[in-house]
Amino acid sequence: MLDGKKVLFSGMQATGNLTLGNYLGALKNWVSLADEYMCFYSVVDEHSITVRQDPAVLRKRSRALLTLYIAAGIDPEKACIYYQSHVSAHAELAWILNCFTYMGEMNRMTQFKDKSAKHADNINVGLFAYPVLMAADILLYQADLVPVGKDQTQHLEITRDIANRFNNIYGNVFTIPEPYIGKAGANIRSLQNPAKKMSKSDENPNASIYLMDDPDTIRRKFRRAVTDSEATICYRPEQPGIMNLIDIYCACTNKTPDEAVAEFSGLGYGQLKEAVGESVVELLAPLQQRCAELSKEKSYIDGIIKNNAEKAGYYANKTLRKVHKKIGFPERIR
Ligand code: TYM
Repeated sequence: MLDGKKVLFSGMQATGNLTLGNYLGALKNWVSLADEYMCFYSVVDEHSITVRQDPAVLRKRSRALLTLYIAAGIDPEKACIYYQSHVSAHAELAWILNCFTYMGEMNRMTQFKDKSAKHADNINVGLFAYPVLMAADILLYQADLVPVGKDQTQHLEITRDIANRFNNIYGNVFTIPEPYIGKAGANIRSLQNPAKKMSKSDENPNASIYLMDDPDTIRRKFRRAVTDSEATICYRPEQPGIMNLIDIYCACTNKTPDEAVAEFSGLGYGQLKEAVGESVVELLAPLQQRCAELSKEKSYIDGIIKNNAEKAGYYANKTLRKVHKKIGFPERIR
């Protein structure tokens, strides 16, 4: 609890162009949970360098992502929106937690297996230990709740395991976090291959809707979305392409799959695709406009970056001091 509220932590990487999956699986829920919790929303730039980045591009994208959090409707005066690299406690706690994490556990992480296959020329230790840094992010703020998409479930489980292990040795140091996986939108699939998740790093631009895509591009990508030859609109795993379109529609309109199926009953796939495309255009247009406006407000954004780095640092260092004490590091002399 912080200031009488439960704590929420989540983060996103500024690598590649953000997709509709990031928005519907995470950001949308961040906005709706922001009033109820004391929230920390980080631009996790330290995670980004597990894959080679162009420094200028990373800096630009990180700023755009921080702006996007605000554009999405998170109030930066209430929620703490900040860059991970501005709070050194993240890296410090990650080192300590590395010493409480087993190689075997990390070896089982499916995202590491996927990413190392993709970046075979750069399988670095950071990529391997990535979930430990993520655990440090969450545990530093004593988070009760972590809203994420389904692809992060395994990372949340390992975070809980590490926290429990630490607590079993040293007493109650960390709050054990719960994942929050939204009902709709937690698992948005590629428009070109519904067996895969929609991903920033997909090589086929038609597979993903990027948050900054213009309306015509969005409509065109939906028109081209891969479906099936059943020619009937049902919500069932045997029709993963249609299921994905309905998921997107429901997440955009706050309808249930049953309502959506009833609405489209007797219509063709073309009409479904048009309607889903329109619901996404309507959802993203105000977000894009607000991003464009905010990107001009340099000093306002700078102020938020400065103040929130201090605020996040304050809470993070409180936990870090506690951890140092528990594990036997000598006290600082002031
Ligand atoms: P990242 O940057 O890959 O994704 C950010 C968020 O978007 C969700 N997401 C999706 N949700 C539904 N459908 C999809 N196709 C889809 N693609 C992405 C992700 O689940 C995530 O919630 N490791 C994290 C960032 C991170 C983090 C943390 C998250 C670092 N530290 C601490 C929570 C708590 C990541 O790479 O997310």
